[in-house]
Amino acid sequence: MLYGRSAEIGTLDEVIARARDGSGGAVVLRGEAGAGKTALLDAATARGGSMRVLRTTGVEPESDLAFAALHQVLWPVTGSLDALPEPQCDAVRAALGLAAGGDGDRYLLAAGVLSLLAEASAPDGLICVVDDFQWVDPASADALLFAARRLGTERIAMLFAVRGDAPVKGVPLTVDVPGLPGAAAVEMLESRHGVPPGVAQEIVTLTRANPLALGEIAARLTPAQLAGREPLPDPLPGGARLFGEQVAALSAAARLLALVAAVAADLGLVLRATDRLSADQLSA
Ligand SMILES: Nc1ncnc2c1ncn2[C@@H]1O[C@H](COP(=O)(O)OP(=O)(O)OP(=O)(O)O)[C@@H](O)[C@H]1O
Ligand SMILES: [Mg+2]
Repeated sequence: MLYGRSAEIGTLDEVIARARDGSGGAVVLRGEAGAGKTALLDAATARGGSMRVLRTTGVEPESDLAFAALHQVLWPVTGSLDALPEPQCDAVRAALGLAAGGDGDRYLLAAGVLSLLAEASAPDGLICVVDDFQWVDPASADALLFAARRLGTERIAMLFAVRGDAPVKGVPLTVDVPGLPGAAAVEMLESRHGVPPGVAQEIVTLTRANPLALGEIAARLTPAQLAGREPLPDPLPGGARLFGEQVAALSAAARLLALVAAVAADLGLVLRATDRLSADQLSA
């Protein structure tokens, strides 16, 4: 269950309902890490009834791999490719690695992506989810945004989620996803973790009601701290320190590896670093 997000869900519901009726559109959810963007996407798609859902999630190691995100979102509907005009079909097949060649025509590819999504929207409409857009490879982002700007007469809702201020060009409707409203955050701590209102309010203030931080901190406090019988630790295990205890419990080699994984977008590089560290070093 989601606390305190009725306004955001209302907006998503509207976009989806209009798409179901043939007036498609796109919306961007924007907020910091842990704000609840993915949770909102899940809630929205679950409310789409019989509409088809296609989904892709940008991942950092694939952000420089052209068409990686497009491959993920379109793979389930490649069976409809033959319904596309031949030049568009060829362009999409080449981008997905299903055929050699394609002359790299960005327009044909983008038009082909829109046509394929339109095919996939029959019979009950389509919700196309693009999560973690900040890590979607630029070639996929180009084609997906081209489609997002041309949904007016389609039965398609495109829902984007993006962290921070990364641009999502040409999608006019943005829903900011801030921390939870204070009362909802207090309710979440009370009902999920049995935290009394005074302690809950203190935690809410310190976390700016970021739902990920609320849950993680509640999980790390002792029953006595949660019940208000003992004071909260100072500082709370929050912000940059949130996962500090877990990291501190790792071996030196595993910490080094976690650091490499945190800064290197290249999965191959991380795997090569792993090869250099023996299993003994990692568990020592
Ligand atoms: N409104 C809410 N009520 C209760 N729990 C929530 C709410 N929103 C998010 N959560 C929980 O908080 C955690 C973080 O949410 P989520 O993964 O959706 O964040 P996010 O904005 O997608 O973060 P990221 O930018 O890292 O992808 C999840 O465990 C989720 O279930
Ligand atoms: Mg997310």
